[in-house]
Amino acid sequence: MPTEAEKMIKAHELLKQFYHHILVNTNKGQEAFEYLHKRNFTREMIDYFQIGYCLDEWDASLKFLKAKGFDEHLLEKAGLIIRGERNNNYFDRFRGRIIFPISDYKGNTVAFSGRILGEGQPKYLNSPESPIFQKSKTLYNFHNARAAIRKKQAVVLFEGFADCIAAFGAGVENGIGTMGTALTDEHIHLIKRNTDNVILCFDADTAGQTATLKAGEMLAGAGCDVRVAIIPDGKDPDEYIIKNGPELFKNEVISGSITFMSFKMRFFRTGKNLDNEGDRLDYIEKVLEEISKLDNPIERDIYLRQLADEFSLSIDALKQQQRKIYYSIR
Ligand code: CTP
Ligand code: MN
Ligand code: MN
Ligand code: MN
Ligand code: MN
Repeated sequence: MPTEAEKMIKAHELLKQFYHHILVNTNKGQEAFEYLHKRNFTREMIDYFQIGYCLDEWDASLKFLKAKGFDEHLLEKAGLIIRGERNNNYFDRFRGRIIFPISDYKGNTVAFSGRILGEGQPKYLNSPESPIFQKSKTLYNFHNARAAIRKKQAVVLFEGFADCIAAFGAGVENGIGTMGTALTDEHIHLIKRNTDNVILCFDADTAGQTATLKAGEMLAGAGCDVRVAIIPDGKDPDEYIIKNGPELFKNEVISGSITFMSFKMRFFRTGKNLDNEGDRLDYIEKVLEEISKLDNPIERDIYLRQLADEFSLSIDALKQQQRKIYYSIR
């Protein structure tokens, strides 16, 4: 007898194939296919990521699974269907949306995210937490990317589905996604079992940059070597690839990633006017604090020199102040 979890996974595997089939082989999937095509998702990417489409009908998924012997309570618990409040009827969760299947680290399909075609709220509708799906332990594309992560001894961390998929199309096969949520210790544990080298490639907007700072601190604290890929013009990786092409993305954005310390220096000067004395002192103080957190004396020296050069300060004065900060924060 299969367990409840095994049945839930089976339901997801069957629905994944059903949704993919509707997207790529049927007339009802054509509008969604066109939408993806316009966004530069090729057939190869659609197949690799098993992207699908859920019909814009009340209970097509439910009927499909019921015909295969699945019970409604189990499907509701797995987050695939919802019970209406007024008439108690069950209906499909992802109606009329493009489906991104999400698998656990073993490769079992355990959840879906459904994107609306075009504008509208919510942009992505996600499976709720369930006995087989915990967001804090799940990273998009982790199972597929694992071999490439190990081989390259590096992982590229994105925010979104579209970014992971576009990057894959651009030849970045070691990309995984946080799906917009905060990175957890469990995520870091999964990553560290495969590599210590992490390149953060979140969106260039404020939310993405703030998330980069937070994720970078956690990863560095766990002993990872953290680099940050900088996307110009406030775009996200997917938009960058569409505008500038795969070569520039690989060779400039990913290969040109900067150290986490350099990222922090950039981050702390945003919104500051360094010609203003107060802002300048705040900035220098903040950077010295970050330098104090570095264990490697050579690294400390490099950044102290950088600061000294940039603001025409004596390295001795900076070192003195840095040591003072070091003792005050330990
Ligand atoms: N996200 C989500 N629910 C939302 C919005 C976002 O789960 N309502 C998650 C998705 O995993 C999404 C990621 O957060 O991929 C990043 O969000 P955002 O940058 O807003 O979306 P994009 O990935 O850029 O989506 P798209 O390119 O399709 O607009
Ligand atoms: Mn296929
Ligand atoms: Mn974003
Ligand atoms: Mn984005
Ligand atoms: Mn996007």
